[in-house]
This record gives sequence, C-alpha cells and structure tokens, in this order.
Amino acid sequence: MPTAVITGGHSGIGYSCARHLALHYKWNLVLAGRSPDKMEKAADALRREAGVDVVTLALDTSSLASVRAAAAQCIAMLDNGELASLDALLCNAGGRFDGPVAYSADGYELTFASNCLGHFLLARLVADHMVPTGRIVFTTSGTHDPDTIDGKLVGAVVEPDGERLASTGKNGSKPLSAGKRYSTSKLCNILNACELHRRLRKSGSSMVAIAFDPGSVPETGFLRALPAPVQWFAKTALMSWLSRRVGVTMGSVGFSGASLARLAADPAYGNGSGKYFQSSDGKLIETRSSALSYDENRATKLWTQMEVLARLRPEETRLSA
Ligand SMILES: NC(=O)c1ccc[n+]([C@@H]2O[C@H](COP(=O)([O-])OP(=O)(O)OC[C@H]3O[C@@H](n4cnc5c(N)ncnc54)[C@H](OP(=O)(O)O)[C@@H]3O)[C@@H](O)[C@H]2O)c1
Repeated sequence: MPTAVITGGHSGIGYSCARHLALHYKWNLVLAGRSPDKMEKAADALRREAGVDVVTLALDTSSLASVRAAAAQCIAMLDNGELASLDALLCNAGGRFDGPVAYSADGYELTFASNCLGHFLLARLVADHMVPTGRIVFTTSGTHDPDTIDGKLVGAVVEPDGERLASTGKNGSKPLSAGKRYSTSKLCNILNACELHRRLRKSGSSMVAIAFDPGSVPETGFLRALPAPVQWFAKTALMSWLSRRVGVTMGSVGFSGASLARLAADPAYGNGSGKYFQSSDGKLIETRSSALSYDENRATKLWTQMEVLARLRPEETRLSA
C-alpha cells in the first residue's frame, strides 16, 4: 500500500485528510508533529477504524534540527523496510501566531519558520527518496491574495523576501502584524510549490508539486490563539452566513481534508503539478492564485534565500540545486 507523510496529521484538516486517505484509499500513514500524545491517540484511532499501518514521527517544523532529524528517520524507515514507499508528502502543519512576534530556535520569525522554511527543507530532504511519481502538496491559504476578500480580511501580504521575513522585528524594526506574517508565509508556500514544480520538470522528474487552499475552516484549532468569544462566534451559523455573503472561500474540515487526500492520491490530480487548488463550498477547484505568486524572479530569489536560511548543504539533496 502507498504511504503518505502528513505534517500536523493528528488534528484539524490534517487528521481529516489522514482519515480519508486511510478509509477511502487504504493508504498507510506517517503522522508527523510535535505533540506525541495527541499523535499516538490519532494513530490508534486510525489503525482501529481503517486497519492501515500508522507510524508517528517527531517533527517541529519551526526547528531546522528537528526537520533534519525527522527526514533522517523517515529515510531510515524506508531503508529498513518499515515503510514500503513514500508516495506523498503533505506539508499541512502551520498556523497563525498572534501576540508579540516570536522567533524559532534558529532565530527566525516563527510563522515563516513553521509554515514555510521547515516545509521547504523537509521537502528538499525527502523528495529524492519518494516514488518517481510522488506528490508534494503545500497547504497555503486564500489569504495570500490581497485582491480577494480572504486576503483583505486577514492582513495584506508584503514582499516575499525570505531574509526580511525571517528577521522581522529584529534590530529595533517594527514587526509585521500576525495577519501579514501569516498571509505572506502562505504566499511563500505557493511560490515554493511553483519553483519546485519548475525545477522538477527541468530535471526530468515526474514528481508533482501542488499548492492547496483548504478555504476557511473555523472548526479546527486554527483560531486557538484568539480570545474565546471570537473563536465561539467564528464557529456560529451566523458567521458562516456572513462569510459567504462577503465572498469568503468556505471550506469544511471534512471536505477540505478529503480534498487534500484527493490531491495526494487520486489519479485525476497526477497532472496537477504547478497548479493551485481550492476547496470552495464543497467543490475542489483548480483556480488562479494571486498575480504575485506567478512571479518567477521572486520565486527563484526566495528559493535561493531559503537554501541559505536552511543552511542546506549540496550533499543533502540531489533535487535540482
Ligand atoms: N482553518 C482554516 O480556516 C485554514 C484556512 C486556510 C489554511 N489553513 C491551513 O491549514 C493547515 C491546517 O490547519 P488547521 O485549520 O487544521 O488547524 P489546526 O487544527 O490548528 O492544525 C494545525 C496543525 O499544525 C500543527 N503544527 C503547528 N505548528 C507546528 C510546528 N511548528 N511543528 C509541527 N506541527 C505544527 C499543529 O500541531 P499541534 O497540535 O502540536 O499544535 C496541528 O496539528 C495550516 O497550515 C493552516 O494554516 C487553515
């Protein structure tokens, strides 16, 4: 049976995706994350309900050392036969980090480090070990597009400059707001998916790199840092009605999770590389991401900056350096 690694696969959209991959496609799973108890509980539930193999993998996407250790463990499991193959890597973990700006163990702004840089490094380290038609899906967000209501509500993106994003608020500079940090990290994930797609094609690889927006899904842990009354209101039918009225892209934990599973496993998306998909009102649609996200010069610059920030060594990856 094929296997998918899902970061943040023990909760929210990630767990819904894991469940769909296990029940519908009968895929084996690796749940990768930083909360061992929650991961083991989710893994147990999936084993019992779907009868598939599920292993857990310690991973904090904000830490380069943790990403390297997780990638090494994953590769070791492939080498020793504990995993038969690696067919999909779903870069799903992430969130909005409200409150004062914070920095990762490597000294990088936490939103950029967790949502973007850690997944960039993980993908670079494991891609060479995936099946030739393996799929890498980056979970992004409609908030990356300032021309949409999703982008206007959360905080408009800023220039996707890796060095500046990693060091926002340092040396006395005014930090970006939590909303801008979040939206821009998701724009970076789309630029990264597109750049990976171009490099895969250039190197003759048949692997697939996809960007995915699950739509607004307030019932997950996504809003956990906001005050309790705001979280409560976000989950009401009135808020859902209002969001639809103003044109917010609406997902749901069940449909958005199943959509991510389809992008990983359904033959229909085998030619989805370099594309942007959105879970919108019960439909999984291929659509245009923001104008900025198609800028190849920015994508190449960001890719090079992230190689430096991740301290990527040439021997760590064969993937079109
Ligand atoms: N919900 C929405 O409206 C929405 C909209 C657009 C995009 N998204 C994106 O969808 C993805 C899934 O979010 P969700 O809505 O399902 O929220 P969620 O329930 O909060 O799930 C987020 C997952 O990411 C994990 N995570 C966060 N930081 C991590 C780190 N540094 N290392 C490892 N794991 C980490 C969390 O693990 P812990 O349990 O350990 O915290 C959790 O499993 C995120 O990338 C989010 O940005 C969500």
